[in-house]
Amino acid sequence: MSPSPEVTLLDVDEEMLERLLELAKRDASPDEVAPPLGGPGWNLERTTWFFGYHRAAAYGLDGDAGEKSWAILAGGDVAGSVRLKRVDTGNGRKSAETGIWLGRSFRSRGIGSAALRLVLAEARRAGLAEVTARTLAGNAGAQRLLAAAGAILTSGDDGTVRAVVVLEGTR
Ligand SMILES: CC(C)(COP(=O)(O)OP(=O)(O)OC[C@H]1O[C@@H](n2cnc3c(N)ncnc32)[C@H](O)[C@@H]1OP(=O)(O)O)[C@@H](O)C(=O)NCCC(=O)NCCS
Repeated sequence: MSPSPEVTLLDVDEEMLERLLELAKRDASPDEVAPPLGGPGWNLERTTWFFGYHRAAAYGLDGDAGEKSWAILAGGDVAGSVRLKRVDTGNGRKSAETGIWLGRSFRSRGIGSAALRLVLAEARRAGLAEVTARTLAGNAGAQRLLAAAGAILTSGDDGTVRAVVVLEGTR
């Protein structure tokens, strides 16, 4: 296997938005990148959601959307995207939810793990106490990724698994 490339996170500006959409269309399933809107494939609804979502998230965790998205760069190539969104989990702790997708040709090379580490560092810098994620019970890759980052995984009765990474008091 080739060695893991250097992974960095970059803000999503208009040029990056076009590059991410091109990657998503070429190298990922639409359902990995966007909600199931308007039927299969990259239809107008999904594309509109994709642009609106990343533009709102450009204002960051303290913006109106309470959300931030980044492009994942691996060895200089645009490899995918990762996000953080403030959520109220009802436990009084400052929490955010994360989500991540990579182009197929970038998977299984440690890039997801490196990107998640960087996002958790961003979350710590933002003073968050925990980061959560939800994935399908059948998504072994996502569960391994989250468990390796220190997440506690809990299976729901709806076919999903909830992951919680506690950040408070950790480095
Ligand atoms: C999930 C995803 C981000 C993982 O990123 P990645 O770069 O492929 O993962 P890594 O190479 O860093 O591997 C992380 C761990 O998962 C394991 N893993 C990766 N892909 C796997 C797969 N398909 N099946 C089982 N394990 C897998 C690795 O062996 C590694 O485990 P280890 O730390 O115990 O050795 C990537 O596969 C992806 O984009 N999938 C589609 C979108 C998605 O499912 N997003 C998650 C929604 S929460």
